Amino acid sequence: MDNYKSTIDACADYLKSRIITPPEIGLILGTGLGQLADQIENPQIFPYSELPHFPTSTVVGHKGQLVIGTLHGKAVAMLQGRFHYYEGYSLKEVVFPVYVLKALGVKTLIVTNACGGMNTAYQPGDIVLINDFINTAFTNPLIGPNDDELGPRFPDMSEPYKKSLIDLALSVDKHLPQGVYCWFSGPYYETAAEIRAFRILGGDLVGMSTVPETIAANHCGMSVLAFAVVTNMATGIQTVKHDHHRVVQMANLAAIRLEKILIDLLPKLP
Ligand code: HPA
Repeated sequence: MDNYKSTIDACADYLKSRIITPPEIGLILGTGLGQLADQIENPQIFPYSELPHFPTSTVVGHKGQLVIGTLHGKAVAMLQGRFHYYEGYSLKEVVFPVYVLKALGVKTLIVTNACGGMNTAYQPGDIVLINDFINTAFTNPLIGPNDDELGPRFPDMSEPYKKSLIDLALSVDKHLPQGVYCWFSGPYYETAAEIRAFRILGGDLVGMSTVPETIAANHCGMSVLAFAVVTNMATGIQTVKHDHHRVVQMANLAAIRLEKILIDLLPKLP
């Protein structure tokens, strides 16, 4: 197998030779939240299938393309469709796009997701700023040989979501709640006992994404800001069974507000 770093560089070189505006800000948009790409000016669209060594999306509702251009004055690279561990990708594949963004010059990564609410102060439709994570999948993308050119063997994880970026987001909407996100591998929705355990551990939100990308971004020195859309209350808190279509519907509804927050936030970003 090719060396991981060289596959990242090959993909980044392919993009660098084609892109007009080198991106400074990366966005990874979760379930139902990909419409923002339509607002990108002078978009350059790269289907994942065209990109050397890039994994390809399997989930319905995820488009599977990288859109590069400018959004409200900022040079952005937007991943429409992400890779989930539950799809069978290795975690190195899941975070491959993050390292490609870094190689393109991205310094700030904004991540969005749809998730379940465990903190009973939340309700479906809420948008929550993630301020820390708990890795309840008990694996991570950094396991294996470390390439020091990508990042350190033992990266610090004391500020996975950068406090100054959280403060900027609060300057856009001071009512945004904050919470701790538990990453669960999925693809089944958690049991009620698992949710009780995660709440005791200190989790407020639960979902099947975001943490691998957060770990990789911190590893390679990017600052991360993450928004979680509470599409449902977690198992045992809500009385009805989970329904993926309902999750997508709620994410689509909240996307309108989240897009507005992101657009107001972009000009303020460093
Ligand atoms: N659990 C895990 N992932 C999710 C949920 C949930 O309740 N809702 C949306 N994504």
